[in-house]
Amino acid sequence: MTRHVAVVGAGLIGRAWTISFARGGRDVVLWDVLPGMAEETRHQIPTLLEGLKEQDLLEGQSVDEVFQRISATDDLSQALQGAIHVQENAPEKLDVKKELFAKLDAHTPEDAVIASSSSAILPSLFTQDLRHRHRCLVAHPINPPYLIPAVEVVPAPWTNPEMVTRTCALLEDIGHQPMRMNKEIDGFIMNRLQMALLHEAFRLVDQGYASAEDIDRGIANGLGLRWAFMGPFETIDLNAPGGIRDYVSRYKGMADLIGAQQTNMADWSGPVLDQLEQERRQILSTEQLAERQVWRDRNLMALAAHKSAMSKK
Ligand SMILES: NC(=O)c1ccc[n+]([C@@H]2O[C@H](COP(=O)([O-])OP(=O)(O)OC[C@H]3O[C@@H](n4cnc5c(N)ncnc54)[C@H](O)[C@@H]3O)[C@@H](O)[C@H]2O)c1
Repeated sequence: MTRHVAVVGAGLIGRAWTISFARGGRDVVLWDVLPGMAEETRHQIPTLLEGLKEQDLLEGQSVDEVFQRISATDDLSQALQGAIHVQENAPEKLDVKKELFAKLDAHTPEDAVIASSSSAILPSLFTQDLRHRHRCLVAHPINPPYLIPAVEVVPAPWTNPEMVTRTCALLEDIGHQPMRMNKEIDGFIMNRLQMALLHEAFRLVDQGYASAEDIDRGIANGLGLRWAFMGPFETIDLNAPGGIRDYVSRYKGMADLIGAQQTNMADWSGPVLDQLEQERRQILSTEQLAERQVWRDRNLMALAAHKSAMSKK
């Protein structure tokens, strides 16, 4: 019998991971520090599974088949007993992660991996003093992981590479696309790339080169179309007849020129923010934000269904 996954912290991300692991065939035991919260979260899951089923995103399984793999408890040691992988999803606060990881390390079977969903706190900061720190790491998803396969797997300096390998294998097994980092750095990979793009977008608006709407249009209807199925390196490899070296020989001059102009940072909270907010609120009022979030999630689901169908061809 395969050993279960313990999901610790039953908020937004804990709930989403639970769906991902259960859909991938793993038994999941959900726990939260708030009594009753794990069970409450478990009860919300069938509705989300119905939505996934409608889009054929349950790998041919029924809602019941997936849901019956999920249980909830208010007893942490019961959740951890026999677990092979722990996925921690408590709030993004260093003191909370530190205290919780001390408990997890003490009560989880010694051969299990303990992974945190931490978005920005480096794994070394909350695992340094642990007895079994070699099995601790970050597995950072993009919300919601049941629709977005990429997960950053980030070791602390003392994490055993075997634990990283095992985590990547587990994630692949349940349909994710792990990104294996060799060492930790602020922002990991995803946020570093996202922030690099945002810095440039803020700079362009701040210096009056273009509107927010036109920049968004260029990503949603230009670069983003390719990025939905291939990354920047594959993009440039295919954008010159001779591949990536040919691309560099053709465009390095342009890259150097632009790169030299990208060293200053716009003050995100300066006048540019007033301008961006005014522009955004003209396009979408505050009252319309929630409705537009539903639109975003619907589109994301349709895109996930499309990518899933394409990958089977
Ligand atoms: N929301 C996102 O888009 C997103 C994406 C990727 C990663 N993350 C990361 O996932 C983690 C959880 O974020 P979230 O958005 O699910 O937060 P959330 O506020 O929705 O959920 C946090 C849950 O943790 C519980 N909790 C509080 N203290 C706890 C403790 N000491 N032990 C166990 N559980 C505790 C809360 O009761 C709550 O249910 C954070 O580290 C966050 O940075 C969030």
